[in-house]
Amino acid sequence: MVLCVRVPKSEGNHVRLSLKERGLLDVGHRIAADGDSLLIPVLSAPEGYECLEADLAENEHRETDYRMLLPEGIRSHLPTSYDCIGDVIVVKIPEEISEHAEDIGRALLQVNSNARLVLEDGGVKGELRVRDLRPLAGTGPSETRHRESGVTMITDPAKVYFNPRLATERMRVASLVRDGETIIDMFAGVAPFPLVIAKHAHPSVIYSIDLNPDAYAYMSENIRLNRTGCIVPILGDAVEEIEKLPMADRVIMNLPQIAYRFLPDALSHTKGGGIVHMHTIRERADAEREAQALIDDMSARGLRCRLEGMRELKTYSPTASVYVLDIVRLS
Ligand SMILES: C[S@@+](CC[C@H](N)C(=O)[O-])C[C@H]1O[C@@H](n2cnc3c(N)ncnc32)[C@H](O)[C@@H]1O
Repeated sequence: MVLCVRVPKSEGNHVRLSLKERGLLDVGHRIAADGDSLLIPVLSAPEGYECLEADLAENEHRETDYRMLLPEGIRSHLPTSYDCIGDVIVVKIPEEISEHAEDIGRALLQVNSNARLVLEDGGVKGELRVRDLRPLAGTGPSETRHRESGVTMITDPAKVYFNPRLATERMRVASLVRDGETIIDMFAGVAPFPLVIAKHAHPSVIYSIDLNPDAYAYMSENIRLNRTGCIVPILGDAVEEIEKLPMADRVIMNLPQIAYRFLPDALSHTKGGGIVHMHTIRERADAEREAQALIDDMSARGLRCRLEGMRELKTYSPTASVYVLDIVRLS
């Protein structure tokens, strides 16, 4: 039984707020209706009200930090972040707590009410950069519908690379696009860069290339879904396909492990004054020097260019980060 005050329904909100201000409201229990009255739980009897004891339901405290649902002994090893792709969560679990993987999955589902499935991330593999995933908790397929910057994308993290953490970078690139640009995304995946650009800018055409047939199928579906007429999906190798395309005002290269190998192909197909956004993984201590060395190497090969900017996108390891280099092609 819980101590509470009985007030007419018409005064309920006013009394509740006044009790709250005075620190007398019992937030651990729910307010209940009793005929024309409300029973408001209190911590101690306030003057001027009819007090009584009643059987009021407990207010559930909704935990928002999944780590608090797991044993204290493992909390310091638990990941502080994880990816939400539509209603699917992808989480990396450190080796030392691998025996708790299923519990971690259930805890993540409990605090993320929109999530349906939790997958353990075993790392990105192969040329197509597809993740090795294992279901930990929840139900249904790994295919999902992700919303980002006003765009809907269907993707399947088990078949295609997709990084929800690049949303800010995609909007940054979209904000740089001038009307009528010709854009090439050499490693487009399910086409998040092309779709966000098409939604927020007015390019004339965006060629969206990927080698993975599943990525091509999803990008084609996403283009239809978002009714974007300016994106041309292309299945194939970026080096071969770019040869068939017109010179671009802007080239996007999101293949951080090895994109630098394709930089000569990208620069050869960029107009003078055009720009290449190249993602790359670098040791933080050497990043700026290596970026400049790459530019000097390109210029020495006759592909004159200059480094306009360099931004750190995310941490890759204790000593390395993923960067995007904005490289301007000089005519
Ligand atoms: C890191 S993912 C980037 C996907 C996408 N841009 C995104 O932000 O989600 C790299 C993509 O490049 C594709 N890829 C790898 N080698 C390729 C090549 N030689 N030509 C075209 N695509 C390639 C992979 O299939 C993968 O989808």
